[in-house]
Parts: sequence; structure tokens; C-alpha cells
Amino acid sequence: MSDRITLRRFDDMHCHFRMGHLLNEVLPVTALYAGRAIAMPNTRPRAILTGKDVSWYRDQIYRAGNWFAKQLSFEPLMTIEIRDSTTPEMIAEAKRAGAVAGKVYPLGVTTNSDEGLRDFFRPEISDTFRAMEEAGMLLLLHGELDQERTLVTKREEVFLPTLVMLAKKFPNLKIVLEHVSTRAGIEMVKQLGKNVAATITAHHLCLTLNDVIGYGIQPHNACNPMPKDFDDRDALIKAATSGNPKFFLGSDTAPHTRDKKECAKGACGVFTAPVLPELLVEIFEQAGHLGQLEDFTSRFGAEFYGLPLNEGEVVLVKREWVVPKQIGSVVPFRAGTKLQWKLSQ
Ligand code: DOR
Ligand code: ZN
Repeated sequence: MSDRITLRRFDDMHCHFRMGHLLNEVLPVTALYAGRAIAMPNTRPRAILTGKDVSWYRDQIYRAGNWFAKQLSFEPLMTIEIRDSTTPEMIAEAKRAGAVAGKVYPLGVTTNSDEGLRDFFRPEISDTFRAMEEAGMLLLLHGELDQERTLVTKREEVFLPTLVMLAKKFPNLKIVLEHVSTRAGIEMVKQLGKNVAATITAHHLCLTLNDVIGYGIQPHNACNPMPKDFDDRDALIKAATSGNPKFFLGSDTAPHTRDKKECAKGACGVFTAPVLPELLVEIFEQAGHLGQLEDFTSRFGAEFYGLPLNEGEVVLVKREWVVPKQIGSVVPFRAGTKLQWKLSQ
């Protein structure tokens, strides 16, 4: 076994870069290994809803951090949030501004979804999805529903019939079930047509619900969708490492400052960017499928989005290191623990 791994630069198809000082702190970390990344639109105080927002946020991203100075090649892939108020005209404008996708947050299921979509079945929203289909924009789904008498751990499963309806109604709309977290979700994505794929995060490959609430409350492992059961995690690992092109990397790296996590109503989101390539190598190595890693990080996402593969490479070396307890104002995933591989910079 070699002590050096070279991979094509990643496409991280699900990132939260935030705004203001957090943007400056977190963006350069992803740019170390990703040639492109999907910039999620659930930002505050300004959500990304229109073509104007897209241009403004892209500009903020290009100004952020020191990745320019380090001459890293990095391109943000822009998105808008699809709400009840999003019209076909707004889709056309966002497309002109360079948005590649629209993201739906169903109402109330996660961070900053207080103005999320209420109804997937309204005729007006169908017109919006049809406009996306015609414009060649992808539909990215936070696949959970907050229904009455439905536990947080069941929210993905109760969403799946909506996914089926959308996939059948819009066969030419490329749909991504973001951060799939259940065996049922994996099976559904496999069964549906080739217009449907799913992203998988590194933290859902590591965690079960026990790591969030089973040994005291661990706020830095809390995320949406909540990590599930062992069998679900097995199914995710199998899908990610199987070489099935329907499953690709979307890290959902989602930084919140320490005070927002360690409090009475802590925010959901895990900051995995500082350990992402290292964790993925460990997971794929343990599964005995290191050979499938590059397709997962750097090919299948690009192919689904219809993009050329990234140029350039990243190198990891076998070297034990301890994840810092805090990076800037954020506690990273696996803080204070040892990892066996290190990104070489
Ligand atoms: O854990 C999560 N954090 N899941 C999401 O869907 C949103 C994200 C965030 O923005 O913090
Ligand atoms: Zn997310």
C-alpha cells in the first residue's frame, strides 16, 4: 500500500460558504482541494433568490480569502433558492446570471428554511420546475418533510414519494437528492431514471444517531438530515464506494460559529471541509474500495452536471495528525481526534 495518493481536483457539489467573515474563513479550505463547488443559497442576511443575488454572491466569493493569492484554480457553481414565490421569469434571469441549479428547502426542515417551499404540488411551482427543465438547470432537493407526528429521523422517508412524483413529472429535469441519509433513499435513487442522482456527505458515512445523542449531546455532530441507523450508514458506504455514477460527493460542509452550536437551540451543520479529503480516503480505504474514490470525488458529479472534468490534482500523504480543536471561529468535524492521511499543500 502506497503512502501517497494523487486524485483529480474534486467537485464538491454541496457547500455552505456563508457570508461576511465566515466566508473568508471557510472558502479557502474548500479551495485547497476542490476545483469547483456548489455554493448553497440559504445565506443570511441575504438569501440568494434572483439573478442579481447570484452575481452579487459570486462577486463576494471571488473576493473572499486568499485562494486567489495561492493561485488555486477554483470556480464557485452558483445556485438560487426556489421558494413559493420563484417564477419562471426568475429562473430565466438566474440562468442568464450563470446559476446552474435551484435548491429547494421544504419549509422548516433545516438551517434558514423558515421561508422554504410549502407545497410541491401547486400549478405555479410546476411552471417554475418546467422552466428549470427547459433552461437546463438542475433541481437540488433537501429531501425531508416536517410533517405532523413524524420524527426527525423519518423526515427523509416521508419525502421520497415527492421525489418520485417530481422525477416522473419532469423526466428531463436533472434532480439531486442532497445528502441522502437512508437505505430507503439510496434504493429509491437507484430505481428512478437517470435524471435522478444523490449526493453523499462524508459525515453521513461516519455517523449514526448515537454519535449525536447516544453518549451525551454532541452538538458538533448535529446536522440535517440527522444521521440515522447503522444499516442506513452501511447502505450509504456501499453506494458511495460502489462505482455507481448516481452517487457523488456533496460534502454539505456547513460551518456555524462555536457559540451557535454550543447553546440551548444549537444550529445544525457540520464543518467538514478541513478534514474532507482525509476522511474520505480513510472511509474508502476501510471499505476496501480506494480505487473508486476519484470517481466519487471528481468524475460522477461533473458528468451528472454536464461539466468537463477538473484539471489539476491533489495529493494526500500517510501521516498521522490531530485535527485542531477550533479553526477561526468554528469547531471542525472530528476536532481533537487523530487522522491517518493529510492533504499535502
Ligand atoms: O446540517 C445542515 N446544515 N443541513 C442543511 O441542510 C443546512 C446546513 C446549514 O446551512 O447549516
Ligand atoms: Zn446543505
